[in-house]
Amino acid sequence: MTAIVLVSVKGAPGVTTAAAALAAVASGAGTPPPEGPAAVLAELDPSGGSVQVLTGAPAQWGAIDAAGRLRRQVSAAAVRDHLADVPPGVATLTAPPAAHVAGSVIASGGDRWLPSLRAAAPEVVVDAGRWDATQPTAGRIQGADVVGLVCRPTVTGVESARLALDRLRAAVRAPVALVVVGRRPYPTDEIAAHVDVPVAGPLAWDPRAVAALWATGLTRRWRRSSLARSAAATHAALASLAGPSAAPSPASDRPAAETAAPPTEVAS
Ligand SMILES: Nc1ncnc2c1ncn2[C@@H]1O[C@H](COP(=O)(O)OP(=O)(O)OP(=O)(O)O)[C@@H](O)[C@H]1O
Ligand SMILES: [Mg+2]
Repeated sequence: MTAIVLVSVKGAPGVTTAAAALAAVASGAGTPPPEGPAAVLAELDPSGGSVQVLTGAPAQWGAIDAAGRLRRQVSAAAVRDHLADVPPGVATLTAPPAAHVAGSVIASGGDRWLPSLRAAAPEVVVDAGRWDATQPTAGRIQGADVVGLVCRPTVTGVESARLALDRLRAAVRAPVALVVVGRRPYPTDEIAAHVDVPVAGPLAWDPRAVAALWATGLTRRWRRSSLARSAAATHAALASLAGPSAAPSPASDRPAAETAAPPTEVAS
């Protein structure tokens, strides 16, 4: 059981793509438990969800309905009941694309998202988007087993990530790793020498496989792509960092912890 949360700090380094690819390989690898999927992809990016737009799925967003049920309690059912099969083969909690709606929906779930997601499926991958400690939704990453800070292997990409690592590590108890997307211009081992956290990846830069994932989902052909193979290796690296802290969560609904954020209104 592993809950991997991916974040970025600057630009659009490929967090959504990385989260979808990791969730896809986790969906294909595990045997689903009787009560739900083997893996869940969750969109907790307060700047807005992307999966519905990228896949052309119907305009329904499970995160809105789930948030309403997570105002006062941690709930596996609140997640499981609102998953969509998008891209095909991946059980996803989609968020609305408008930032003001997504931000409000995510804030409403407070720090109950991760415990609920972890209770809903053995493997969880969260696209938490751009993260900053001052965001009202900063608590959305609490409860991760491992946090991956996604960056491109460029000077500005690596440097902005490096500068954010301390704040990220101060905010979560989970191990933090850098997840590199692509091999150019700087190879992953060179980047690893510049940061004092583990480096996972690289995820392959593979535009065709990205397009195929959004269009047709988890096909046999997609699984042979360099994106899928590198995502499997990256998932394994992150899961091994999560280690023993990735303890099982009870699958039943339970009240929110006393530290949970007070309920707020959910925009719809
Ligand atoms: N591994 C990859 N191979 C090829 N193209 C990629 C890869 N990762 C991301 N891209 C491309 O880069 C662009 C940004 O990717 P993505 O939307 O995943 O980034 P993001 O960090 O989630 O951005 P945002 O902050 O806007 O949510 C998209 O055009 C996407 O197709
Ligand atoms: Mg994104």
